Amino acid sequence: MADPGRRPPDRPIVWVNCAVSLDGRLAFARGVRARLSGPEDLARVHRMRAEVDAVLVGAGTVAADDPSLRVKWDVAGLPRGRDPLRVVLDPHARLSPHARVFDRTAPTLVATTARYQRQLPTAVDSVVAGEETIDLGRLFAALRDRGVARLMVEGGARVLASVLRDRCFDRLTVYYAPVVIGGALAPPMVAGPETLGSEDLTVLRLASVVSLGAGFVAEFVP
Ligand SMILES: NC(=O)c1ccc[n+]([C@@H]2O[C@H](COP(=O)([O-])OP(=O)(O)OC[C@H]3O[C@@H](n4cnc5c(N)ncnc54)[C@H](OP(=O)(O)O)[C@@H]3O)[C@@H](O)[C@H]2O)c1
Repeated sequence: MADPGRRPPDRPIVWVNCAVSLDGRLAFARGVRARLSGPEDLARVHRMRAEVDAVLVGAGTVAADDPSLRVKWDVAGLPRGRDPLRVVLDPHARLSPHARVFDRTAPTLVATTARYQRQLPTAVDSVVAGEETIDLGRLFAALRDRGVARLMVEGGARVLASVLRDRCFDRLTVYYAPVVIGGALAPPMVAGPETLGSEDLTVLRLASVVSLGAGFVAEFVP
């Protein structure tokens, strides 16, 4: 994790993490969940969740994967502790009330917009973070004000696009599984607006590459 002493004043420390195929896909065609992480990478991901105050995903990931976003302490190899806050971006109120993030087994915060506010399940907190879409700067400042010092962003493709393009992150770790998914319908690691030339590139610096299980983890900094 980045040195907390260098935490930006207006947001938590943001650690982005995802798992991709060698051709940079996050999932199978049409977004069907691909379990790309092997046991070693799952242990790494659960240790990361255990280290942060909040874990964030977009509504698309909740719709596709229905993740619990909790720490599996046995998988992490750690004594049971406190689960991080689960943060979901849902600007158009499209989350199902039956999603696992609403199961009340850990706290959940839904980031909504002024235009699409709605009734949320009991015990689920919400924050308005924009008018029609979510302003990540506003959301991250609200999270910092709620005591979130360390935030892990887990995806999916559109959320990663926003966070990487806005450069509001401190570290990106990508697990590369030695598989190729291919095709035109499997989501890429990063969606969002087109890059038309080098002036639009998001340039990162490679900090480390570590072999892990069948694949490897590369770590980048902005
Ligand atoms: N391999 C991995 O590590 C991994 C991890 C996570 C997810 N995934 C995969 O990723 C796919 C889902 O990706 P996705 O792109 O469809 O969904 P997503 O990025 O999880 O969620 C995108 C949605 O978040 C909302 N959103 C609100 N504010 C946003 C902002 N500032 N920037 C971006 N999004 C914002 C939007 O909701 P509205 O549409 O309502 O506007 C947007 O459609 C699934 O296939 C899942 O399996 C893979």
